[in-house]
Amino acid sequence: MIGLNTTNLNQFITDAELKGLWPAIDKAHHDLHGKKGKGSEFTGWVDLPSQIPDSLIDELMALGRDVQSYSDCIVSIGIGGSYLGIRATVEFLGGMTKLPIYYAGHHMSSVELYQLLETLKTKRPTVVVISKSGTTTEPAIAFRAIKQLLESKYSKEELSKRIIGVTDAAKGALRKSVNQNGYRSYVIPDDVGGRYSVLTPVGLVPLALAGIDIKSLVEGARAGQKEYGVLSPDNTCYRYVAIRNALYRKGKKIEVIASFYPQMFFVAEWFKQLFGESEGKEGKGIFPASLIMSTDLHSMGQMMQEGERTLFETFIMIDKQAHDVTVPSDAQDIDGFNYVAGKTFDYVNKKAYEGTAAAHTEGGVPNLTINLCKADAFHLGQLYYFFMKACGISGYVLGVNPFDQPGVEAYKKKMFALLGKT
Ligand code: PA5
Repeated sequence: MIGLNTTNLNQFITDAELKGLWPAIDKAHHDLHGKKGKGSEFTGWVDLPSQIPDSLIDELMALGRDVQSYSDCIVSIGIGGSYLGIRATVEFLGGMTKLPIYYAGHHMSSVELYQLLETLKTKRPTVVVISKSGTTTEPAIAFRAIKQLLESKYSKEELSKRIIGVTDAAKGALRKSVNQNGYRSYVIPDDVGGRYSVLTPVGLVPLALAGIDIKSLVEGARAGQKEYGVLSPDNTCYRYVAIRNALYRKGKKIEVIASFYPQMFFVAEWFKQLFGESEGKEGKGIFPASLIMSTDLHSMGQMMQEGERTLFETFIMIDKQAHDVTVPSDAQDIDGFNYVAGKTFDYVNKKAYEGTAAAHTEGGVPNLTINLCKADAFHLGQLYYFFMKACGISGYVLGVNPFDQPGVEAYKKKMFALLGKT
């Protein structure tokens, strides 16, 4: 279950302000579900969870077992929406995969790639190369380098087992390469854009190969699809949309996703791509930022408490952690911390959260909390759907097309010109 605690918002927004947003949310709901809004050709993700065939999940899990029998690692090549959801899922679940995953194609750092190539020399990898367009520079050139290494180690036949493409059904260079070389491949649906694609083969294929419970992930998303598809002011997702838009209209232009768990780092990165690329256009949009606490309270805590009051904070908390550790008692008590001896780390962490939320409220930072009851695949699937739905609806409330990204072409044009692309 995903809960929303809004107690600390009382002094910042009124019920009337939230209610005032309801007509816009109502319209956004009808536009999204009726495929009448901007970018409706990319809204396939809305009904996707219930349409994923169970047979595909079973097939991918069987493929995973097979790959695990002849590989000792997975290399996932991709960037943006073809990268972040995979890493977010693995890290959120504590990195307890059957095979380790290495990531490539999300940067162009020579040092990072060199180190990965060195590591792979002595490994038996299976590579998943993911690109919807099939033409993105970073994954394309990383794939070249990794493919060259694999070609030096394996026969053509073996390569067709060890390289899997996830791309468009017909378009793009990756589709061509997959078809020409006889690699196994999976299709990214046309009507689902990169940042909304974690529940398509983009996420499901590498996660299944690594041994993640994709069945529960999809079941969680299905629960989210049902729960957040209801047009009601009680819909938690729509309440979140109303809150963030009400705050934005009052000058709160930055949303800080704040969590007290390092395992949430890449979920926040995924969130930043989702909302940043969806809302940041036409001179509008809430700037998405993230902090991992208590670590970042020792660096960004000052800014949060006393900096310019243009931000609001969305905490993500986990009710029950999978493991806990008790603070030991110390006979000498030199550091004076025996007063927390016997308490668990999670207890102390939660008190840090409660203290932070109260201090930030006093400091003029409106904040709300999304509560997950558990950090498992089911609840992560539900959270992904919660945020995707919130993002689509929020984008429409803002008046932008939340499903395109015209702005990302600008740097590419300049880079291609500098590289001499003809
Ligand atoms: O959200 C998007 O569509 C983009 O950010 C893409 O995810 C990213 O650019 C990767 O694109 P592709 O999968 O086509 O390589």
